[in-house]
Amino acid sequence: MQLVCPVCGENLTRQERSFACPNKHSFDIARQGYVNLLTVQQKHSLAPGDTREQVLSRRAFLEAGFYAPIAQMLIDTAKKYGVTGEILDIGCGEGYYSSRLAEALGLPLTGLDISKEAVRCAAAKYKDAQWFCATAAHIPVADASAGLLTSLFALTLPEEFHRVLAPDGLYFQVLAAEDHLLGLKSIIYDELHHKEKDTVPEIPGFERLESIPIRFAFQVEGEQVQNLFSMTPHVFRIGKSGAERLAKTKTLSDTASCVLNVFRRV
Ligand SMILES: C[S@@+](CC[C@H](N)C(=O)[O-])C[C@H]1O[C@@H](n2cnc3c(N)ncnc32)[C@H](O)[C@@H]1O
Ligand SMILES: [Zn+2]
Repeated sequence: MQLVCPVCGENLTRQERSFACPNKHSFDIARQGYVNLLTVQQKHSLAPGDTREQVLSRRAFLEAGFYAPIAQMLIDTAKKYGVTGEILDIGCGEGYYSSRLAEALGLPLTGLDISKEAVRCAAAKYKDAQWFCATAAHIPVADASAGLLTSLFALTLPEEFHRVLAPDGLYFQVLAAEDHLLGLKSIIYDELHHKEKDTVPEIPGFERLESIPIRFAFQVEGEQVQNLFSMTPHVFRIGKSGAERLAKTKTLSDTASCVLNVFRRV
């Protein structure tokens, strides 16, 4: 995929150990193989995005296969629509879903995340893809370069997503539904509040072709209980009594519930 300079917007070309633009802005390729294209101005904190602990917990949980049905639905749906071109995964995390998708479809993959820890972890394991650190608000790739754009349990930014998607490309969005991980939530919160969640959003510049519910039960035990908790945003919201109840939880029966929305560009 054609990367562009996050400073001046010119095309980046690969040198031996870096990417550089004609205006001599240069970005080193890290030892693990990823490139940091996040400028200081685009960083709103010292270490934006998911922390190392979250990334490692997500890797351990996903690698154990608990969410394999989600990966499979992504693959089946991409095959059904006959996706072609290059895959671009926004908020790719440690790369579990998009690496499987790319392998199953035999398509090139580029993944980006604002968390350096996430792309470092993705690059260390999935060597066939291109991984970089960047913000979804300024995606450093050329216009219309993605045949399939994905944002899985991550954010959607309509204008940038529209710009980078090829005219005949598709956008796959996975959103957690309201009943996602109710078992975990009922342990960690004293009370559960009903919060309306729009899992079939309208996105300016896109037409929604299909919304596929994905819902399945699973069971975790031992340290996977903590891994599941640590990979969710609940890690920032838990109180003392919730943390105590969680620490005592040895096994957990829960339900994963999310929606895969398929959009095309209009
Ligand atoms: C819930 S995780 C999902 C990760 C991965 N897609 C998965 O499903 O395993 C959300 C990810 O979005 C990333 N993220 C948050 N804000 C971002 C931004 N502005 N640009 C790019 N990535 C961002 C986080 O660092 C995190 O890795
Ligand atoms: Zn430049």
